[in-house]
Parts: sequence; C-alpha cells; structure tokens
Amino acid sequence: MSDWKIRRAPTIQTELEVPGDKSISHRAVMLASMSNGVCVIKGFLPSEDCLSTVNAMRALGVEIEVADETTLVVHGRQRDFKKPRHDIDCGNSGTTMRLLAGILAGLPFTTRLVGDASLSGRPMDRVMKPLAMMGAKITAEGKNTRPPLVIEGAPLRPIHYVSPVSSAQVKSAVLLAGLSAKGKTSVTEPSQSRDHTEKMFEYFLVRPQRQGLTVSIFGEQTPESRDFQVPGDISSAAFWLVAAAAQPRSHLLIKNVGLNSTRTGVLAVLLRMGAHVSEIVETEATRRARERARGRMGAQVSEIVATEEPEAMGTIEIKGERLRGTEIKGAEIPNVIDEIPILAVAAALAAGRTVISDARELRVKETDRLAAIAINLRAMGAHVAETEDGLTIDGGFPLQGARIDSFGDHRIAMAFAIAGLFAEGETVITNTDCVNTSYPTFYNTLDGLIRRPPTTQIPVITSLPVHD
Ligand code: S3P
Repeated sequence: MSDWKIRRAPTIQTELEVPGDKSISHRAVMLASMSNGVCVIKGFLPSEDCLSTVNAMRALGVEIEVADETTLVVHGRQRDFKKPRHDIDCGNSGTTMRLLAGILAGLPFTTRLVGDASLSGRPMDRVMKPLAMMGAKITAEGKNTRPPLVIEGAPLRPIHYVSPVSSAQVKSAVLLAGLSAKGKTSVTEPSQSRDHTEKMFEYFLVRPQRQGLTVSIFGEQTPESRDFQVPGDISSAAFWLVAAAAQPRSHLLIKNVGLNSTRTGVLAVLLRMGAHVSEIVETEATRRARERARGRMGAQVSEIVATEEPEAMGTIEIKGERLRGTEIKGAEIPNVIDEIPILAVAAALAAGRTVISDARELRVKETDRLAAIAINLRAMGAHVAETEDGLTIDGGFPLQGARIDSFGDHRIAMAFAIAGLFAEGETVITNTDCVNTSYPTFYNTLDGLIRRPPTTQIPVITSLPVHD
C-alpha cells in the first residue's frame, strides 16, 4: 500500500478540472441499463466504486462497452435482466449496494451482494426495511443488518416511505424499486438529500413528482434511452477549493464541475468562512448556444437558454483569505455530507471556533469519519473535541506534519493530504489505495501543486465575469 509524502505548496494560482461525479456516474449506468436502447455516457468516473456498478450491471446481462476511459456505451435491457451466475461484488461502494438492492427487489430471482471489509461493516437496515415493506425478501448475513445481502425479488407493491434519515441512497433505492411496482411509490425525507436520481428519472422521461420533501414515481415505466454527460464531481473539487480558500492570495478556477444545488453547500460554507467564491452555471447546451450567439452578436450578449440537461454544470472561482470559523448543522448537513472531512480541515486552519452538529451519519460512512477526523486533526496539533453527532474545532493553531492513517477511507486520505499542504514539516498519509474508489488521479494533481516551483510563470486566469 502506498504512502504519500506531503509538504507545503506554493500559493495556488491555477485552473483545474476534476473527474466525473461519482453519484451521477453510478446512476447514469443504472438508468441506462434499465432503458429501452443504447445510451452513450460521457464524462463517466472510471473509479473503483463506479466500476463496481458497471460490473454489477454486466453480471445482470447488460452489455457495456468502454469506448474510452470516460465514455461508456450501455445497451439497455429494460427489465429483462439475467440472474447473475455469481455473487455481485460491490467492493467499497455503499451506493452500488444500496441502489442495486432497489433494482433487484422487483426482479424474479435471488441475488447475493457482497462487499469489502469496510462495506461489510455498514448498516443495510435502512434499505432492507422499505424494500421488505414493498414485498421483497432481503436477508443480511452479517451482524446487525450488515452485508452480505441476499435479495429475493418479488412482485412489488407501492408504498409511501417516511425515511428516518436524509439519505439519497435510501431515497434512490425506494424510487428504483418503485419503477417495478404497480402504482405510486413515494419517499419523504427529513431534509433534502442530493436529487440526482429524480433529475435523471426526469431526463430519461420517467416523470417523478416532487412536493416539498416528498418525491413520488409511478411504476411500470421504462426509461427512454438517451445520451448523458456527467459533470465533474464537486465533492472531488472540494479538496482543491479548501486548499485555495485557506491560502490568502490564492486564486483557483475549477471548470466543468457539477453545480446541482443539493451539492453546493461546500461553497456556502466557504463563503461564510470568508473565502471569495463565485459560481457560474453553464451547461454544455448553454455554452454552445452562447458561443453561437457571440458569433452572431459580438461579445456583449447574455442569453438565457432553456436546457434539457438534468444537471447544472459550470465554473467555480475561489480566492483565498484568512478564514474564520462557522457553524454547520441541520438541513445543511446532507448538502455537505461528503465534504465534512475537508471542511473540518478548513476549520482547523480558520481563526476561531467551528461547530459541526447533526452529522451522526458520518459514523457509518466508509469509516467512522467523526472519530477519524478528530484523531488525525489532533495528531497534527489541532484543537478538536468530538461530540456524539459532530465536532467542535478551535482553529488557527499551527499544524504540524504527522503520520496520518486514512482508516481505509478515501475522503479522510484526501482531506489530510490537503492539511499537509499547510503543516510545518512533512506529513505522511498511509493506506492511500482507498483513494482509487473515487479519485484515482488525486495524487497527480496534488503533486503538480506541490512541485510547481514558486518562480514558475503563473498561468493566466481569466476571472469569471460579474455579469454575463
Ligand atoms: C450518495 C449519498 C450519500 C453520500 C454518498 C453518495 C449517493 O450517502 O454520502 O457518498 O450517491 O446517493 P447517504 O445516502 O448514506 O447519505
């Protein structure tokens, strides 16, 4: 297993792109597999987690061609899936296991889903319960509803499920199962989680309805095959956003990144902490239309184009500042759920106190993230107290280089690599292979930032226009 050695980096002044969105890549492969024809998915994230979903759909008989590393051609089979010959290995991917459980619940055969050691320690009752209410028989072979999961599919009945957790995985599992049920299936969640499944249903012409925190779908519908562009992953961008935000005089542009409002909480938090942040939504369709319009009418044109593209995509610009502490809690938590490790690092670098609460979900992620963050921040000299559902971080104390364990969790490894950029001396991150689950090229980008000599010509960055 490889270690990373991190030292301080010169001021960040650059433009970056990040690989495709993980959540959206999973869903694109699943919906395309359930569609009635051929779908080309561009911008797919070729990480271990998303490849677990590709392999799972292949095991169900779906033909998926890899045109190039980030372009897949998926031959949809509607509901005509084959019984897999072996267990389906979901690797480290909770999204694969939980969403797949929703698809398998209505199929006329039994499937066994297995995962790696981390996934085998994660609770599955959150999807087992609603899917059992719909009529599927699901058994967890591990202790306390832990995987492996054995799913005996059955004809499903629609339900209205009031979920005790704000979880896009739970909501998506129920909605995917709802596609097989006769009638209207609804899910209500305590606060809004990411809405990629709903957006993708809409795009594939399976019309969901939303009323407040309730989403419904009518069953026995087949997604219409369509091509799909996956935007860059804002959760991957978040590492660079914090690296720039916490460094006065830095200036970073991240292009072609997803700007779905259920995912941009990290920008709101960094803004509150004092960073200069702006975002401009520019989907592929809007960009093309704007270019056409500029050709016609000169550069002054501002044109609003209605686009069918389901996911907002565009550019984030961030300029660094001395950050200050903030509070992160309540309905904002689902919107920053994957960004808490890196926001905790931002908090340690900020002046004053940051309080994170209502985040007990972090205890059942790839590792117990609250515990891992507290242990690692302390190892670097930060002042942090762990609470049952969050963290209190008194920031602004200098960080010291340390030997940091990822606990096998990709986001812990990457968050503490960024902390290492700000620490005195060398930071070593151990157990970094887990990063391949979401961001295989992370270290190359990081190394580029560290190695760029301070004297190097800074790339010219064109700031976002204030009015477009
Ligand atoms: C995801 C939902 C979130 C998130 C995970 C991806 C998804 O999990 O943390 O990384 O793609 O639906 P929960 O649904 O458990 O909150």
